[in-house]
Amino acid sequence: MTLAPEIVSLTGTHCRRVEVVVEVVVVPSKNDGSELAGGAIADLLNRKPTAVLGLATGSTPLGVYDDLVRRYEAGEVSFAQAKGFALDEYVGLPPNHPESYRAVIKREIAERVDFAPDSVHGPDGWASDIPAACAAYEEAIVAAGGIDLQILGVGTDGHIGFNEPISSLASLTRIKTLTEQTREDNARFFDDDLAQVPTHVLTQGVGTILRAGHLVLLAWGENKAEAVRDTVEGPITSMIPSTALQLHPHATVVVDEAAASALANRDHYKWTYANKPAWQGI
Ligand code: F6R
Repeated sequence: MTLAPEIVSLTGTHCRRVEVVVEVVVVPSKNDGSELAGGAIADLLNRKPTAVLGLATGSTPLGVYDDLVRRYEAGEVSFAQAKGFALDEYVGLPPNHPESYRAVIKREIAERVDFAPDSVHGPDGWASDIPAACAAYEEAIVAAGGIDLQILGVGTDGHIGFNEPISSLASLTRIKTLTEQTREDNARFFDDDLAQVPTHVLTQGVGTILRAGHLVLLAWGENKAEAVRDTVEGPITSMIPSTALQLHPHATVVVDEAAASALANRDHYKWTYANKPAWQGI
């Protein structure tokens, strides 16, 4: 078995990662994975209260948000000085549409914890000048100091954010056309009516995502198994944008057993994580 070599920081002053480029953590259940990711975010906020979080939507991160709300209510974490940036947004849905990602982020996390007003942002898919809105979003992320931790789900076709296959791995926030597969996957949020699913989105680019300090990609269930295998073990290709995680010095993939089921090196990842020095966290 050949695994990619360890990535050591260019300054040579620290050595964070053990053995694999993308760390895979196989957890018994979605709840365990959500708790693990929630714990990493809470640790970050406790270390750095002004942390900038990258927030995904879709069904995958919902358990993480529930976990964070629980920690907030228990007094273990505060978002009062933090900032949030959504990954993506549909084009053409009014911001108050219940399935606009702005509304979803507000409902699922922002208004359930103590984020300050106007501290959570999303690309403006309702803007009349879309290119300007995309440029403004990139600038806002930079002005906030960059994203410290980016939560990611993955599409069945390997999209991250809404970077569909054949997305430049250097891309920044821009407009994209959804594939029919993604529109069908997301029709469940639109009364199972494909006609209601927007055709276009604004999304942080793969390059934007790669600028974040720590990428935490989550995947649950067997229908994500192939995408997870390709992300971690496949060749890097714009055909599968999630493979760009292999270019990042601190990427963590948290998967349940079903989502891990197609990984060739699954047992090794489990062994590696079980023997990881506890001080490293994820
Ligand atoms: C949503 C997003 C998408 C989803 C992906 C998986 O903000 O960035 O990449 O993470 O479509 O969706 P779910 O989680 O619904 O399976």
